[in-house]
Amino acid sequence: MEFLCLFSILLFGFLSRSQLVDAQLHHDQTTLQTIAKELGLTYWGLNNSDYCSWSGIGCNSSNSMVEKLDLSRRGLEGNVTIISELKALKWLDLSYNNFHGSIPPAFGNLSELEFLDLSSNKFGNSIPVELGRLRNLRSLNLSNNLLIGQVPDELEGLEKLRDFQIFTNRLNGSIPFWVGNLTNLRVFTAYENELVGTIPGNLGLNSELQLLNLHSNQLEGTIPDSIFALGKLEVLVLTQNKLTGNITEAIGNCKGLSSIRIGNNKIIGSIPRTIGNVSSLTYFEADNNNLSGEIVAEFSQCSNLSLLNLASNGFTGTIPPEIGQLGNLQELIVSSNSLFGKVLTSILSCKNLNKLDLSNNRFNGTIPVDICNTTRLQYLLLSQNSFSGEIPHEIGNCVKLLELQMGSNYLTGTIPPEIGHIKNLQIALNLSFNHLHGPLPIDLGRLDKLVSLDVSNNQLFGNIPIALKGMLSLIEVNFSNNLFNGPIPTFGPFQKSPSSSFLGNKGLCGEPLSSCGNFNGSDHEGYHHKVSYKIILAVIGSGLAVFVSVTIVVLLFMMRERQENATKAAGIADEGSNNRPSIIAGNVFVENLRQAIDFDAVVKTTMKESNKLSNGTFSSVYKAVMPSGMVLSVKRLKSMDRTVIDHQSKMIREVERLSKLHHDNLVRPIGYVIYEDVALLLHHYFPNGTLAQLIHDSTKLPDYKPDWPTRLAIAIGVAEGLAFLHHVAIIHLDISSFNVLLDADFKALVGEVEISKLLDPSRGTASISAVAGSFGYIPPEYAYTMQVTAPGNVYSYGVVLLEILTTRLPVDEAFGEGIDLVKWVHNAPARGETPEQILDAKLSTVSFTWRKEMLAALKVALLCTDNTPAKRPKMKKVVEMLQEITQN
Ligand SMILES: *[C@@H]1O[C@H](CO)[C@@H](O)[C@H](O)[C@H]1NC(C)=O
Ligand SMILES: *[C@@H]1O[C@H](CO)[C@@H](O)[C@H](O)[C@H]1NC(C)=O
Ligand SMILES: *[C@@H]1O[C@H](CO)[C@@H](O)[C@H](O)[C@H]1NC(C)=O
Ligand SMILES: *[C@@H]1O[C@H](CO)[C@@H](O)[C@H](O)[C@H]1NC(C)=O
Ligand SMILES: *[C@@H]1O[C@H](CO)[C@@H](O)[C@H](O)[C@H]1NC(C)=O
Ligand SMILES: *[C@@H]1O[C@H](CO)[C@@H](O)[C@H](O)[C@H]1NC(C)=O
Ligand SMILES: *[C@@H]1O[C@H](CO)[C@@H](O)[C@H](O)[C@H]1NC(C)=O
Ligand SMILES: *[C@@H]1O[C@H](CO)[C@@H](O)[C@H](O)[C@H]1NC(C)=O
Ligand SMILES: *[C@@H]1O[C@H](CO)[C@@H](O)[C@H](O)[C@H]1NC(C)=O
Repeated sequence: MEFLCLFSILLFGFLSRSQLVDAQLHHDQTTLQTIAKELGLTYWGLNNSDYCSWSGIGCNSSNSMVEKLDLSRRGLEGNVTIISELKALKWLDLSYNNFHGSIPPAFGNLSELEFLDLSSNKFGNSIPVELGRLRNLRSLNLSNNLLIGQVPDELEGLEKLRDFQIFTNRLNGSIPFWVGNLTNLRVFTAYENELVGTIPGNLGLNSELQLLNLHSNQLEGTIPDSIFALGKLEVLVLTQNKLTGNITEAIGNCKGLSSIRIGNNKIIGSIPRTIGNVSSLTYFEADNNNLSGEIVAEFSQCSNLSLLNLASNGFTGTIPPEIGQLGNLQELIVSSNSLFGKVLTSILSCKNLNKLDLSNNRFNGTIPVDICNTTRLQYLLLSQNSFSGEIPHEIGNCVKLLELQMGSNYLTGTIPPEIGHIKNLQIALNLSFNHLHGPLPIDLGRLDKLVSLDVSNNQLFGNIPIALKGMLSLIEVNFSNNLFNGPIPTFGPFQKSPSSSFLGNKGLCGEPLSSCGNFNGSDHEGYHHKVSYKIILAVIGSGLAVFVSVTIVVLLFMMRERQENATKAAGIADEGSNNRPSIIAGNVFVENLRQAIDFDAVVKTTMKESNKLSNGTFSSVYKAVMPSGMVLSVKRLKSMDRTVIDHQSKMIREVERLSKLHHDNLVRPIGYVIYEDVALLLHHYFPNGTLAQLIHDSTKLPDYKPDWPTRLAIAIGVAEGLAFLHHVAIIHLDISSFNVLLDADFKALVGEVEISKLLDPSRGTASISAVAGSFGYIPPEYAYTMQVTAPGNVYSYGVVLLEILTTRLPVDEAFGEGIDLVKWVHNAPARGETPEQILDAKLSTVSFTWRKEMLAALKVALLCTDNTPAKRPKMKKVVEMLQEITQN
């Protein structure tokens, strides 16, 4: 009886439920048709009446209800209210479109919703209070819109919220206290708004907060201790607010904190010694505050520290010599404090130091002769201190210097002629306000990139040497208040300068001062100011680029070193044990290849160096011959140690998802193997190698020279692959000719797509030490944003296109110091070279048609590599432009 009863309840329940579902299904179908009409999604339903197969739609496999709607990056606009009728929706992504008006309050009815991304649209007005009803929401992204008003208190009910991003809007009011009550909160970003008030004192107390970014608001009060309480913080960015109070000792709880940026506030007190416990610290930026006390020696325990910026504070005392142990330190900026002491020798032992800014303090002592033992130094800024003694001749060893500032010290002796050996010196050479005497060395004339020269206010004497006319890039000069005499050489930059640049000398004459009587230098050498401004821009631009690329190269180098050590260690361990490592997981996605692939053989292959084909930024690739005769390419992922163990199932899901991403120009994984902490991805083997080999390696295919049509087809193929990736919202993290593979017909396939999904750059930790791409392909803005973006991809693609057009490597010493392929090509007009002179003449001289097409492709490449990300075309547009070339 009981059994029957139970049975009927179950049966009844089942029936009514399925009827309900039927009604809902019909409802979902109608809703989707309405959405298609409203948003102009004409391609929905064209081929297939099963809406679950339409692009951007995901259904529950058991009841076919729409659970996922991804309409990101489709240039859509229109009324999205109707989407609220998809009652089973768990995932809604409308990011990167042109939706405007208010966020529909009806979205509050999507009670199953877990992920809501409305970022990068033009949604305005205030955040609807109805969103507070989305009790299952884990991720809410409203960033990069035009939202105004306060963050509504009704959102307090979103107890499951993990990621909460509202940056770059016009939100005002204060950060609600309840944000600190969200027990699952990991990521909270609200930067670039108009927020006022204080940071809630409970933020971080109730959840393991990892990323907090509130920069560029008007926040007041102190940095609450609470954010350090659970010790999980990894990235803290509070720059450009009005914060006061001290940095507390609690900061030492956060061993994983890699980035601390609190500059441009009103923070007081000293830096706590517990900073030494923050062992992951990479960036510490606290400039323009009211900090005081001494620079603590404990910084030296943060062995990863790359940037230490304490400029414009009230620090006193000396820089502890232990700072010299920081082998990874690239920038030390302590200008405008009250620091003193003889510090140069100890600091200069930081072997990766790139920028040293000690200006405007009270440092003393002499300039040591081993000043440039470390030759990486590009910025040496020592002005406004009390340095004394002579400038050592060894200054000439500082061959990488772009800027040398030594003004306003007590330097004596003569100017060493070796300064003229610093051929890179571009931005400025400033020796003003010292006690230098003697003549100006004629070697200075060799500084043909130098833009600004200031030797004013010394006791220099003699003529201004005619040889200085070799300083072709000069814009700004100052020789005033010395003991110079004789005629001012006739040289554009001199005569264009105001007379004040020459005043206060003993006997200088000629333009711009009064004439010398007898000799009358009046030929003006046709100097054009316009040109000089181009030069200054170019020079300063390239100076920056040099800095950027060097910084990143150092990072990559450090990373590679670490990985190689790790691989070596792993290798030794492997050899030591005879036991075959046990395979934890493995799968082949392609049904008819299952028989042909043997996982043990795959693993064995990766243990022999001789099987290695290449070594990339993120992986090594091996050639594996299966017992069945099939040849595979096996990719061993690097730097994955923790990821493999902690995120195995997530990784497997991503790889499986990517294996379903069909595009002719993308390399698709056909399977994977995981053993110990190693992840291997299986791909088809491409016998024609990479694009880099095809273009640059004449030993690989000696008898095959790719002609222009082949190259153009490859260029279009790569562009199509990338356009598709962007279409599905995947940013490639390592575009380079080394990651473009060629099949038997020389069709191009973009590889390393997995990396962007397996290494997670959206997590702050990846910002400095992980994801940068390959040297020569890294967009200039990366140095500031530390984020790879779609326009960044376009830049890297532009570099690949330039390689195809010029048959030159992205970085080559032949371009000159600090000049990469992009700079070299962009600077061609300034050098007076025609576009033809940069194209590969072996191709461009073959036929008039080829030449014309190459010039058109060059234009596209120039657009792609524009310095300003916003000016670069979208990948889709690039495809169109290149296709137009073939059609004309
Ligand atoms: C529809 O089918 C055509 C031909 O099979 C195909 O080219 C097109 O990509 C399909 N469209 C969609 C939206 O699936
Ligand atoms: C599909 O829907 C059913 C019933 O609503 C639910 O129990 C199940 O978890 C859903 N499946 C997935 C994969 O979400
Ligand atoms: C959007 O559509 C809904 C009905 O789906 C309607 O109530 C609302 O007024 C529309 N909004 C606008 C701005 O047209
Ligand atoms: C939410 O759903 C209820 C009932 O289904 C409806 O009455 C209400 O109008 C909806 N809210 C919005 C804002 O559309
Ligand atoms: C919006 O934020 C969520 C949560 O942090 C994130 O997963 C998503 O990628 C973001 N959207 C975009 C377009 O970046
Ligand atoms: C936050 O939680 C605390 C303690 O759990 C509670 O007393 C307080 O009212 C909550 N604050 C808000 C704004 O929800
Ligand atoms: C905060 O800084 C002030 C000013 O330097 C100092 O007097 C005070 O002791 C500091 N407080 C703490 C808790 O460190
Ligand atoms: C510079 O190099 C010299 C000789 O190689 C060495 O004796 C000296 O210790 C080095 N100085 C620094 C600061 O590394
Ligand atoms: C440098 O300054 C310190 C402290 O101000 C002083 O004791 C020392 O004598 C100075 N050294 C030189 C060489 O001037």
